[in-house]
Amino acid sequence: MKLDVFFSPAGLAPQEVAGRPVFVVDVLRATTVICAALASGARGIVPVASVEEASRLAQTLGPDDVILTGERNCQPIEGFPLGNSPLEMTEAAVKGKTLVMTTTNGTRALLATQGASEVYVAAAANLTLAGLRAREILQTKRDLVIVCAGKEAQFALDDAYTAGRLALEAIEGRRRRKGLNDGALVAVDLARRFGKTWERPLTLSASGRQLVKLGMGADVADAAREDAYPVLPIFHDRRITAVTAA
Ligand code: MLT
Repeated sequence: MKLDVFFSPAGLAPQEVAGRPVFVVDVLRATTVICAALASGARGIVPVASVEEASRLAQTLGPDDVILTGERNCQPIEGFPLGNSPLEMTEAAVKGKTLVMTTTNGTRALLATQGASEVYVAAAANLTLAGLRAREILQTKRDLVIVCAGKEAQFALDDAYTAGRLALEAIEGRRRRKGLNDGALVAVDLARRFGKTWERPLTLSASGRQLVKLGMGADVADAAREDAYPVLPIFHDRRITAVTAA
């Protein structure tokens, strides 16, 4: 059994994800936003690396069903109708639409999973569903990777805690250490240390503090709501959609 947690996509070698099942975590805020958008009925989300690529793709796909969304320095991008707040992802705004999304860290982590066998998106907002899938994968494939978006190529407490919570779901809370890489060992210990309340690790993190300082504390509070957006997003063929129950 192998369970690896990587705290940032920076320096992630292609062979570390190649052919392996991967979960991507950017709880503040990209993966929370993705869950919120799909829970509100968005058709799909296409993550792209740059503002230019997002604008180009929106033109190609046609303006009617496409909405540009994302952030730079946590702020909405000029000319983009939506920013990177889960609270903006209302049915009125996104139902039936395809979102073309570019964010500083989250979309980078998603794009770094190229070559993985399957890629899912996790946050507090979908912990139970993501945890169930992670557990199922670990039981059947004996392999699981969790990639944190981190913050500007560095460790981020909010994502590491989320990765730990997801890893604990995957191993059913067992005290096992065998098969866990150092990142997974640390993430699990961190999750145990903070316990089950999301507010503390999220508000203590640099991303959380930055968002509060910018007047976006409501987004941090929303991202801390466990199972608030119960969907399982899967990233396949450049597009993120919700896995529908069999
Ligand atoms: C990101 O992808 O970098 C984050 O979601 C940043 C943010 O919260 O705006």
